[in-house]
Amino acid sequence: MMIDEAVCQMYPVLIGLMGCGKSSIGRLLSQELGLTMLDLDHYIVDKAGKTIPEIFDEHGEEGFRDLETEALREVLGTPVVIASGGGVVMREENRIMLEAHAPVIWLKSSLHFLANRIQGDDNRPLTAGRDALTVLQQLADIRYPYYSQCADYILHRGKMNKAASLHAVLEYLKQWQYENTGSQQQTQSSHSLLSSPKFEDA
Ligand code: S3P
Repeated sequence: MMIDEAVCQMYPVLIGLMGCGKSSIGRLLSQELGLTMLDLDHYIVDKAGKTIPEIFDEHGEEGFRDLETEALREVLGTPVVIASGGGVVMREENRIMLEAHAPVIWLKSSLHFLANRIQGDDNRPLTAGRDALTVLQQLADIRYPYYSQCADYILHRGKMNKAASLHAVLEYLKQWQYENTGSQQQTQSSHSLLSSPKFEDA
């Protein structure tokens, strides 16, 4: 049974540092939940008609943050899975919006793991041409309290691959949905996690 949208408004938002898997896990999650995947960076790029490095070059980081806030305001709460940009928590206005929204999921990985993934990626202006680990350490010091403030759930990925991470997020969402609506939203895949024994009684 597919839960009526008016009853079940489970539109997850993924947050976390660059490289933590927000887009890739978000895509899998959107398929499971039968929702559209919305990558906030792509939304900004499409709207601006410029790449992220071009936006940073022409308008600076603050210019990018303005677009990011505008984008978040436009899409938050619509029936999509949102993969946000790592810096979305930098603006207080955004944190207020995220705190008022649920479920927000922080994908947390070790900084070494993230640095290996993003080192040398020219599409990320904050780390391009710099030592990714050093930058990530600085960002983590500032952002971890903010991620923590906005998140309803923290997934400590550790050595979890994408499939295991997806599974853990879905387990959390089942619980969230049950607690918040008393219902369960049907997933799209044949191996629906929502029919796992743990939740049959729920
Ligand atoms: C940023 C992260 C990027 C992108 C921009 C700024 C950040 O998104 O929004 O380069 O401040 O951490 P990803 O987290 O998807 O890489």
